[in-house]
Amino acid sequence: MCGIVGYLGNEPVYEKVIKGLSRLEYRGYDSAGMAYIEDGELVVKKCKGKVVDLENVVGSVKPLSHIGIGHTRWATHGVPNDVNAHPHCSGDGSIALIHNGIIENYASIKQELMNRGHVFLSDTDTEVLVHLIEDVRNAEKVSLFEAVRLALSEVHGAYAIVVLDKSNADQLIVAKKSSPLVIGIGAQDDFYIASDATPIIEYTKNVVYLNDEEVARVDRKTGLTIVNIDNQSQTPYIQALELKLEAIEKGGYDSFMLKEIHEQPRSIEDSIRGRVNLKTGLIKMSGIDEHEERWKTAPRILIVACGTSWHAGLVAEYLFEDFARIPVEVEYASEFRYRNPIIYPTDIVIAISQSGETADTLAAIELAKERGALIFGVCNVVGSSISRATHCGAYTHAGPEIGVASTKAFTAQVVVLYQIALSVAQKRGVISNERTTRLMAELGSLPLKVEQVLKTNAITEAIAEIYQHCSNALYLGRGYSFPVALEGALKLKEISYIHAEGYPAAEMKHGPIALIDENMPVIVIATEGASYEKVVSNIQEVKARKGQIIAIVTEGDKTVKGMADHVIEIPRTDDSLVPIVSVIPLQLFSYHVAIMRGCNVDQPRNLAKSVTVE
Ligand code: G6P
Repeated sequence: MCGIVGYLGNEPVYEKVIKGLSRLEYRGYDSAGMAYIEDGELVVKKCKGKVVDLENVVGSVKPLSHIGIGHTRWATHGVPNDVNAHPHCSGDGSIALIHNGIIENYASIKQELMNRGHVFLSDTDTEVLVHLIEDVRNAEKVSLFEAVRLALSEVHGAYAIVVLDKSNADQLIVAKKSSPLVIGIGAQDDFYIASDATPIIEYTKNVVYLNDEEVARVDRKTGLTIVNIDNQSQTPYIQALELKLEAIEKGGYDSFMLKEIHEQPRSIEDSIRGRVNLKTGLIKMSGIDEHEERWKTAPRILIVACGTSWHAGLVAEYLFEDFARIPVEVEYASEFRYRNPIIYPTDIVIAISQSGETADTLAAIELAKERGALIFGVCNVVGSSISRATHCGAYTHAGPEIGVASTKAFTAQVVVLYQIALSVAQKRGVISNERTTRLMAELGSLPLKVEQVLKTNAITEAIAEIYQHCSNALYLGRGYSFPVALEGALKLKEISYIHAEGYPAAEMKHGPIALIDENMPVIVIATEGASYEKVVSNIQEVKARKGQIIAIVTEGDKTVKGMADHVIEIPRTDDSLVPIVSVIPLQLFSYHVAIMRGCNVDQPRNLAKSVTVE
C-alpha cells in the first residue's frame, strides 16, 4: 500500500505528480505529499487527507520545478496526520524520501541514530530510513547512490523508495524490495517512477521493473544505472507496456466500482478467450500443459489468498473436488505462513491475487517454494511480484481494477479457476467428455447471462433504498453459493460500513438465527440446484422469526417468490457457475446502499487496494 511517484525531465513536475498520485490513490489515501527542488531549495508540501487536499496546500502558484517526488499514504507506523505524511527529510533538510513498505528494524536503528544526535519529528519508520541515509553519506563520504545502497543493506523489511537530494536537480535514486516499483523511460531522457504503470502509461510505454534489492540511479546526464545490494552492476531490461489509458479511466461512470461491475461481461469473455475450444472439446492453458505430469499426479492442491481472492479460492475448492476429484485446502495466506504448515514437494499451491502484490500471499508462496511445491499463480496484474514469483500460472484478463472493493477481478478469478479445474479433470481422465462439453458451452454463455443480470439493476436499487439504514445483514448460501454469501457480506461491510456476515445457510440455526428479527435483512442465494429444497427450509426458518428475505432466485422460480419479501431473478445455469452470476446483484446491492449512505465506494475508509504490508 502507499503509492509513490517520481519525475525527472523536461516538463514541470507538478501536474505529473498530482495526476500520478490520483491514479495511485487506490493504494491508500490517509495523506498526500510531494517534494521538489526550486531555486536550489528543497520544498516539501504535505498534509493529512487526499490528493485534492494536497492541491489546496500547494495553492494557485504551481511549482515550475522539473524534478520531484510524490506520495499517497496508507498509514502503518503513526496515525494519519500532516507530520507523518511523506516525504520525510534528513536532519539537515537536504534529502527527501518517499517510501512504500515497512522497515521492520526501524526501532533499533532509530535508537542508534538518536544516540548519535539525530532528532526525529514523526512516528514513521520512513523518517528513520532517510536519517540513516544521511548518516551513512556523512560518515562514509560517499555519493547519495552509494549511501542509499549501504543504508539499505542495514534494513530489514519491505521498501520501494525514491530519494531526492537538493544539491542535484538532475538525479533521483530509487530502490525496491518486496514492494512494487516501475521506472518509465520517456523519449527525451524523461524518467517516470511509480508503484505501478498507471501514472506512466500516458507518457511512455517503455518500462523497467526493478527487481528486489536493486538500487537505481536515474540521471539526466548518465541515464539509468542499476546495481544490486552487493554493488554488482545490472543490465536494465526494458519492456513494452500493454496497458491502455482508457482502461484506467472512468469512461462515463460515476465511480470505478460501477464501471467495473458493468465491465464483467467483457472481462469474463476475455478470461475465457483463447483457452476454451468447443470444437476440440479441449482447454488450453500453458501453465497446466507445461507441468502436465505434476497436475496429473499431485495428491493435493493448496490454495492461498486473501480477501475476495480467498473467496474465489473457496469456489475453486468445490470445483476441483467436483470435477477433478483432488483434495483441496484453502488457506488465508496470513494464517498459512505463520503456522508450520505441512507442504509436500508433490503438492501444487495455487496463489490467487488480483494485484499480485499482497505481502502475505507472496510470503506464503516463498514458504511453499522452499518446501518444493509447484506454485501456480492466478493474477490480474501482468508482471506483478506474485506473477514473477510463481513457477507458472494463468492471468485473469479483467483489466485494471481501481475500485478498492474487488468485483470484476472476483468473477474473472472464478472463470480462470473453473477452466483450470476442467482442464486438470480432463488430464486426469475423471470427467466425461459429455459433461466437459456441456460445462464449456455453459461457460461460454456466461457473458450474455451476466449482461442479463446487470439489467436487474433497477430492482436491486429499489431494494437497497428500503434497507439502506439497516445496521446488520446476514447472507446465506449453500454449496457453491456459500462463498458467494461470504463475498456479498464482505462487499457490504467494505463500502457501506454495515455489519454483515456470510454463513452456510444450514449453519444459521447454530447461532446467527438468534440475531434475526423484523429489522434484519437476510440475503439468501436460493437458486435451483442440489440444495434448493434445503435452502427453502432455511428461508422458512427466517420468516418464522420475522426476518426480511431478499432472495436471489433462478428465473421463473415460484416457490421462493411466494415466501420472500423481495426477489432478484438470475438466468438459469449449471450449479457450478452460479457464483459468477449470483454475485452480480450482491455487488450492485452494496454499491447502491453505499451510495445512498453517502460513502465513497471507490475509496472506502481504512482500506487499500494493494496490501503490501503484513
Ligand atoms: C485488499 C483489497 C481486497 C482484496 C485483498 C486481496 O484487502 O481491499 O479487495 O481482495 O486485498 O488482494 P489481492 O490483490 O491479493 O487479490
